[in-house]
Amino acid sequence: MGRAFELARRGPQGSNPQVGAVLLAPDGQPLAEGWHQGAGTAHAEVVALAAAQADGRNALGATAVVSLEPCNHTGRTGPCSQALVKAGVRRVVYAVADPNPSAAGGAEQLRQAGIEVVGDVLAAQGRQLLQAWLAGFQPVRPYVILKIAQSLDARVAAADGTSRWITGAAARVHAHGIRAEVDAIVVGIGTVLADNPALTARTADGALAARQPERIVVGRREVPASAAVRGTGGALMRLPTHDPAEVLDRLAARGHRQVLVEGGPTLASAFLQAGVVDELHCYLAPLLLGAGTSAVSNLGIATLAQAQRWQISSTHLLDPDLLLIANPLKEKSCLPE
Ligand SMILES: NC(=O)c1ccc[n+]([C@@H]2O[C@H](COP(=O)([O-])OP(=O)(O)OC[C@H]3O[C@@H](n4cnc5c(N)ncnc54)[C@H](OP(=O)(O)O)[C@@H]3O)[C@@H](O)[C@H]2O)c1
Repeated sequence: MGRAFELARRGPQGSNPQVGAVLLAPDGQPLAEGWHQGAGTAHAEVVALAAAQADGRNALGATAVVSLEPCNHTGRTGPCSQALVKAGVRRVVYAVADPNPSAAGGAEQLRQAGIEVVGDVLAAQGRQLLQAWLAGFQPVRPYVILKIAQSLDARVAAADGTSRWITGAAARVHAHGIRAEVDAIVVGIGTVLADNPALTARTADGALAARQPERIVVGRREVPASAAVRGTGGALMRLPTHDPAEVLDRLAARGHRQVLVEGGPTLASAFLQAGVVDELHCYLAPLLLGAGTSAVSNLGIATLAQAQRWQISSTHLLDPDLLLIANPLKEKSCLPE
């Protein structure tokens, strides 16, 4: 495998992985070797098989040692798994499993053809070699906007649970514009049960916007059969978890890049406490409730010095309300502790 790594390094770094392959005869003697020379050219295993053939050597019963799992994908070149089967290779040893969803499955294909397959050999070294290429397959955490519509005294619902509408029409039109831009709207099941929102993006005249975000409901309780989130709009997905990181992993895996968390306070607090909110949209309505549901609950902060500090990036008067847009303050606060 060490030799396969050396060969891999001869290939160019680019959109394709650097891969090396060594073919060993049944007695363990080297038969041939090859490496991938970049996008559009033959893969390392195929280069090694061709080199053996050009030398008049037979790969029947050989062992192929490859730094990356042989692909199972017909792109500009044919699947390597098939080429290895056709050549009569008996055993395949590889370092790193192929993370590319369209190319993975080569090992399984080989096993089904009766070939002995050994994976994860010197895998850490292999991953080190392929670091830059593998990074392209890591799902990126979506950008998270948290929306809160609150009274001047930071209540999102009155003492009897009523919350519609704390903000006025202009703020709601603005919020619908944001909904139309994001990939998903995320709410807790408590909000679905209390407010029965449709979670659609609508234009100022109430019509459905052309693009509808997915509707994500977080929590263990079921979404009622009659819930408005089941109506016309984006696809509905239930995530029976309380872990914001898990929610974001699932959304990243679905290719979502920007999501809007609309509360309620339990879900909002969990996202804030986990430090995964990138932008806060606080619609501040000029009314006081005195009692009722607080916008945010426990954030695990015991003393002022531990406060989460935010930086206001813009303010917008959405008559009669005020929208504050803020981002987490990254630098250390200059306030005395
Ligand atoms: N003005 C606004 O901006 C606004 C927006 C939304 C809601 N609201 C108001 O907020 C109130 C509802 O508040 P809420 O806090 O119950 O709503 P929520 O945050 O939407 O839902 C809370 C529920 O979600 C589940 N959950 C998800 N993540 C959780 C976590 N990390 N920890 C614990 N539980 C988690 C739990 O249900 P399970 O036990 O089933 O898992 C929990 O009971 C309503 O009065 C509504 O009108 C106001």
